[in-house]
Order: sequence, then C-alpha cells, then structure tokens
Amino acid sequence: MEKVKKIITLLEEIIGDAVVSCGYERRYGTVTVSNRPDLCQYQCNGAMAAAKQYHKAPIAIAGEIVAAVGAQDMIATCEAVAPGFININVKTEFLADYALRMSREEHFGVEPAETPRTVVIDYGGANVAKPLHVGHMRPAVIGESVKRILRYVGHKVIGDAHLGDWGTPIGLIITELKVRKPDLVYFDPDYTGEYPKEPPFTVSELEEIYPYASKWSKEHDDYREESRKAILELQQGRRGYMALWEHIMRVSMEDLKKNYENLGTQFDIWGKESDAQKYIPDMIRDMKEGGYAHISEGALVVDVKEETDTKEVPPCMILKSDGATLYNTTDLATIVERMKLYSPDQIIYVVDKRQDLYFDQIFRCARKTKLVKPETILTFIGNGTMNGQDGKPFKTREGGVMRLEVLIENVAEEVMRKMADRDFPEEEKRDIAHKVGLAALKYGDLSNQASKDYIFDIERFTSFEGNTGPYILYTMVRIKSILAKLGELPEMPERAGTYERGTEETALLLTIGRFADMVEKAAAELAPHKVCQYLYELADGVNGFYHANKIVGETDTAKQKEWISILRTALAIFKDGIGMLAFEAPDRM
Ligand code: ARG
Repeated sequence: MEKVKKIITLLEEIIGDAVVSCGYERRYGTVTVSNRPDLCQYQCNGAMAAAKQYHKAPIAIAGEIVAAVGAQDMIATCEAVAPGFININVKTEFLADYALRMSREEHFGVEPAETPRTVVIDYGGANVAKPLHVGHMRPAVIGESVKRILRYVGHKVIGDAHLGDWGTPIGLIITELKVRKPDLVYFDPDYTGEYPKEPPFTVSELEEIYPYASKWSKEHDDYREESRKAILELQQGRRGYMALWEHIMRVSMEDLKKNYENLGTQFDIWGKESDAQKYIPDMIRDMKEGGYAHISEGALVVDVKEETDTKEVPPCMILKSDGATLYNTTDLATIVERMKLYSPDQIIYVVDKRQDLYFDQIFRCARKTKLVKPETILTFIGNGTMNGQDGKPFKTREGGVMRLEVLIENVAEEVMRKMADRDFPEEEKRDIAHKVGLAALKYGDLSNQASKDYIFDIERFTSFEGNTGPYILYTMVRIKSILAKLGELPEMPERAGTYERGTEETALLLTIGRFADMVEKAAAELAPHKVCQYLYELADGVNGFYHANKIVGETDTAKQKEWISILRTALAIFKDGIGMLAFEAPDRM
C-alpha cells in the first residue's frame, strides 16, 4: 500500500503541475492551510508573487492556474478570487477516506525525518542543594516536550539533566558548614583517614543552608571571598571538600530525581556540571595553542564579538584571574564531552531566556575554538517566566520561592475541588486529580510560546472548558465513554461510505487530516505550542461532531461504523498528541 502523503503535499502536486503547465515556476504552487476557514480549506497565494516576475495581473495568473487544474478526484472546488488568491476545498469523501488511511499508518502518516539527527537536549539545570522550584518547571516541561516531538519524527534524542553541582552554591555551602560545624573532620587539612559514610546534614538542613549563605555572602565581602576560595580549593581537589561535595550530591540528587519524576520529566542521562571538569585542562591547552584565548586583566578570555554586532558582546571568560574555572568553562567543556560521547548533530539548551547573551557567547566561543563541527547546530530555546497575577515571577503567598512539588499539589487540589461531585473511590480520584493537574500545568505552560512570559492562573488552567489541558483530557474521556457504550467495536471500514456528511463531521475530518503537517511544523520549529493549538482544535472538532450527531443511537449501521472509526482515530491522535506534551489521560474524570 502506498504511504499517505500530507494533504498539502497532494494539493501542491496538483497545483504545482498546473502552475508549470501554464509556464510558471513550480514554487508558485505552494499550498497552505487557509487562514480564512470561513472561505475555504486550503489556499495558494502564488499568483500574487508570480505577478511581479511575469508582469501580469495576479487574478489573470490565478485564473489560468485554476483552469489548468480542471477536475480532480480529491478537489471539490478550486477558484480564483480577487486580487489573485486560489481558494481550494477538498471533497469530503476524500477527507473521510484519508482519515481511514491515516489510521492505518504508523504515526498517522507523519514522515520520518529525511536526515535523522542525533540531538542532545539540555533541559534540567537545577542546582543541587536546592529544592526544585517553580523556576525549574518551564525548561523541564518545554524540554521534555521538544524531546518527544523530535523523537516522534524519528530523531535520536538524548535528554540531559545537566545539574548544577560545581559552581558558587557549593562554595557557599562549604563555607557556611565551616562556620556552623568547624570541628567536622572535612575541614581538617591534615586529616588523611577515611571520611564518614553518613552525611553531616539532612536534605532539609541543606536546603536551609544554601539560601542563608547566599544572602549572607551578598552582604559580607569576607564571607564571599572565603567561599570563592572554597570553590577554588574544591576544583583543585582538596580531599575534605571533595568528600563534602559527594555528600551534598548524594543527598540532593535523590531528592531532585524524585521531583523531576513527579513532574514526568524523564532524563536519559543525569549529567552534572562536574562531569565535564576532566575535559577542561586539554580544552584550555587547545584554546591557547590555537591562538584563540588570551590574557586580559589577568583572566583567560576568548574574544567573541563580531563585526555585524549591534549589541556589545563581551569576551567569553575561560579562567578567572585566580585560575578558577567558571560557569562558562563548564558549559564549554560539556560541549567537548558531548561531542566526544555522542557526536551530536545538534545540541539544544532550554534555559531561562535571561541567559540569552550568555549562550550567544558560549556558542560563538565553541565555534571559534572548534569545539564543534562547522555543521553542528547549536540551539538556544530561551524560556520566559511563569508569573503570578501581579505580573511578576510567581511566588508563594508569603513572597518566597515555591517548591515545584507544592505547586503540583496545589493544582491537583484544585482539580479535586472541581471534581467534588464525582462519586469515585478516593484513591482513584486522587490519581485522576494528579494526572489532570499535571495536564493543566503543562498545557498552561506549553500552549504559550516558550519565549513568552505567562501568568499562572490556577482557575483557568484547571477549567474543564476552554483552551486547557483538562478540556483536552475531558474530550478524550468523552470519546472513551461513547466507545464504551457501544460495546464491542466493529472493524474500521476499509473505505469511506457515500452518505451526506454534515459540516461538523467535515470540519473534524479536516482537522484530523492536518495532523502530519502540524507535527512536521512543530518539530521543525521546536514548538510544542503548535501541538497544543492543534489538540484544542481537534477537541473542538470532536465536541462539535458529538453534539451534531446521535452517535450511539444512529440506526444506519454503515454510517455509525464510520463515525466510530472517526472517534477512534481522533482518540488515537489525542494519545500521541498528549504523549508529545508529556501528560496522560485518566479513564474518567
Ligand atoms: N544551573 C544553571 C542555573 O541555575 C542552569 C543550567 C542551564 N544549562 C546549561 N547548560 N547552562 O542557572
């Protein structure tokens, strides 16, 4: 059986042939989904552009093309409209058949990428010794979705947590511990024995120490100096500090893993900043020998400004004047590590957009110093902030940083309230609320473009109506319940029947038929919001169709059989769609 092509591709073949037969370049036959669905389903605007090249009126060109298209199996209407649009409608029966063919294809006909890439995606970035908080949610949620979308179209994607375990925070914790517990053996420089297996702190102590030390260091220069020295000594391998660092790591990794898991974020590798340290000496040697790095005010830097810059791009610092490495050094060495271990064709970073300039420097430096191949794609997805109702970064009611687990819990509680009248067993209800709550949170996030800030609105996000995650799930549950009422389901028909289809059915079929096109775009643009937008339209389509037709009571069995197949296809598409957004549907809600 021939693989289904995208509807757009099929139309482009027809229109393109017509364009060529009229003596114009094929590229003027580009077809897009109509931006005026009230007028037509698909459109071609090529005549407008061709008019300039061929010095003819656009409407004349459009008319010629339409005449050349003639009668076609899949096309219901194809018209030239002033000033030179070509409006196209597809036959409803073609759409019905198309949906059936799609349902038989793997991934509903989404073409696997022509050149599959190996991609490393860096989307964790939480720092050890700190609980996962709401600020970590966006990269984790966006990155997980981008990873899944890319996998869906056949790329090999490696998700990396890249935890912050090496920089300033560790120095601060060591410094503060020394103040609080100076007698700990870790601080005795002459100690040569084994260090205790038990950590000298609990996870909650750790979480209290870090913010305290961070605040204190901002107000006390000597303390800051002390902690700077501690990092340097750690980097130089001071035994006691290494042992402390290992304790910090073990205690907080466990907690971070649990919390990422609670969010449904699945890293393939739990990489850490410290992993790349061993690549630093050679990297620095190469940068020096290659003549890329030079000393400036005592520090080792690589100039990365370019002539075309309109903004100031400062040099990328590789070593501080005291010889300590920094955030930049680690990120660059991590690139070395990734190239060595995975030879990726692309590295994607999902990080707060305030690090935009920083990644610009890193990418330029990596290219200039040849850490990557010229063709390696380096991509920065800078995420905006999740804000509170006041438009400022989301805080707890007391003005503190909210733990992610608390946020997830709050949203699940709200869903519980929304389901107050449901008479489900308590345990099942909690499980549903957790699933629906995660969907509310993730959809609320992903339906916005990654770079945009948005306002966390628990009321709206958890609503079972409107452009929300719960609405998508509710629609899926509705389909499941209709299918359950029908008992044993008939086989999907081979071909579409020839009954009169209503507008709602046509609209739904049209949306189903757009799936592959949408997925390809979402993958090309690394844009989960396109998946959200599509699922929302699909949900509206399903609900419109459901309200317009008495599906369960329909007596024309051929018709009913086809309706059931449409619902089953929609449900299967929903499943793949929410899979790309990394949430799950309950069986009821
Ligand atoms: N840990 C960093 C921070 O808290 C974020 C890490 C982002 N990823 C990266 N490769 N730099 O700012």
